Amino acid sequence: MTDAKALTRLVKSGLRDKASYAPGVSPSAPTGRVVRLDWNESPFPPSAKAQQAIIDLLQSSRYPDFAQTELRAALARYLDAPVERVVAGAGLDDVFNTLAMLIIEPGDEVIISEPTFGVYRSLFSLHGATIRNVPLGGAPEFALNPDALIAAISDRTKLVIICNPNNPTGNLFPMGQVDQVVRSVPCLVAIDEAYAEFSGTSHRALADRYPNVVILRTMSKFASLAGYRVGYGLIPTALVPYLPLVTPPFCNVSAVAAAAAIASIEDFAALQENIAAICQERDRMFAHLNALHGVIAYPSATNFLLVRLPVTDAGPIADELARRGVFIRRYPNPSLGLIDCIRVNVGTPEENDIFLTEVREILETMIPENERTMEGARA
Ligand SMILES: Cc1ncc(COP(=O)(O)O)c(C=O)c1O
Repeated sequence: MTDAKALTRLVKSGLRDKASYAPGVSPSAPTGRVVRLDWNESPFPPSAKAQQAIIDLLQSSRYPDFAQTELRAALARYLDAPVERVVAGAGLDDVFNTLAMLIIEPGDEVIISEPTFGVYRSLFSLHGATIRNVPLGGAPEFALNPDALIAAISDRTKLVIICNPNNPTGNLFPMGQVDQVVRSVPCLVAIDEAYAEFSGTSHRALADRYPNVVILRTMSKFASLAGYRVGYGLIPTALVPYLPLVTPPFCNVSAVAAAAAIASIEDFAALQENIAAICQERDRMFAHLNALHGVIAYPSATNFLLVRLPVTDAGPIADELARRGVFIRRYPNPSLGLIDCIRVNVGTPEENDIFLTEVREILETMIPENERTMEGARA
C-alpha cells in the first residue's frame, strides 16, 4: 500500500510548489464579539424577495435548470444584453475559471495591473498562464497606465484584466483609458465590475462597441448573495459557441442560488437602498479615518476603503484588531507597496463604530505620537 505522503506525486507537477491564493486568513478572536470587515461582504441580508425564493425551494429535490434559462434571462435584462452572450457561474471566480478554460494554454500571457484582486494571478497561473504585471501608479491616484498595458502585449497575450473599480485600491479608472486599451489590443479585455453598483458607473457599453470585451459582475456584493455564489459575465459573441464545451454539464449554479439571484434582480429597488446606505456609511468612515493623525483613507467607489496607517507595517495593528475581534484585510507582500495599509469594508453602523474606535485606540496606545511615521501622510 502506498503511504499517504507518496500520494502527493499524483498532484500535478506544476502545483506541488505553488502557493495558492490565501483570502486573508485571520486568527480567531478570543472574545465572543466578531466584526468581520475583511471580505467585502454586504452587512445587509439578502433582499426580502430573495429570502422568499430561498424558502420556496426548501422542499425541492431537483437539479437546477441546466441551461440556466431563467437566471440568464434575468441577468440579460439587468445588463440590457442578448441572453446568449450571458454566462453565469458559482461566483465570479467560477466565471473567471470558465474564461481560463476557454482561452488559456500553457505559456499564454495574461496582463494585470497590481495591486489588484489576487485571484487573477493565482487562477490564471494555475491554468498555465504567465502573468505579466503592469503596475498601477502610486498613491493616491493608483492610476492605470494604458500605454504601458498596450506596450506589454505580445503574441502570447490572450487577456488583459482591468478591475474597475479596483480592489483593493477602491478607485475607478477613467472610461477613456479603458476604451483606449480595448481598442488598441488584439486580445480579450475583461473588465471586472464586481463593485459597479457602488460606483454607479459601468463599462458595459464597451461590450456593444468592441468585439473583444468581457464584462464581469457578481451578486456577492450589492445583492448580499456572497454565500450563494452567483457571478456572471457578458462575453463576446464569437466565444458563445464554445461555452458548452467548458461549462459542467450539470451546471454549477445551484437552484437555490439561481432563484435568489433572479429574485434579487426583481427586488433591485430595495437593494438600491442598501447600496445608498453602504455608500453613506463608507463616506462617514472615510471622514473619520482621515481625521485620525497620520491616517489616509483613499477615496473609494466601492463598499470598502484602503487605509494607509502611520506605521511601517500594518501587521501588528491588524493582529491587535483581530485580538479584539475585528477582522480587516492586510497586504504583507512587499511587491504590492501596501505593507502599511489595511482594507476595511463597510459593515453595519455599529460594526463600523467598533472598528473606528478600536483602530483609533490601538494607534494611540501602540504607537506613541513621536514614533509614528509620517510616510502615510506624504504618500
Ligand atoms: C474584484 C473582485 N472580483 C471578483 C470577486 C469574486 O466575487 P465572487 O464572490 O462572485 O466570486 C471579488 C470578491 O471579493 C472581487 O473583489
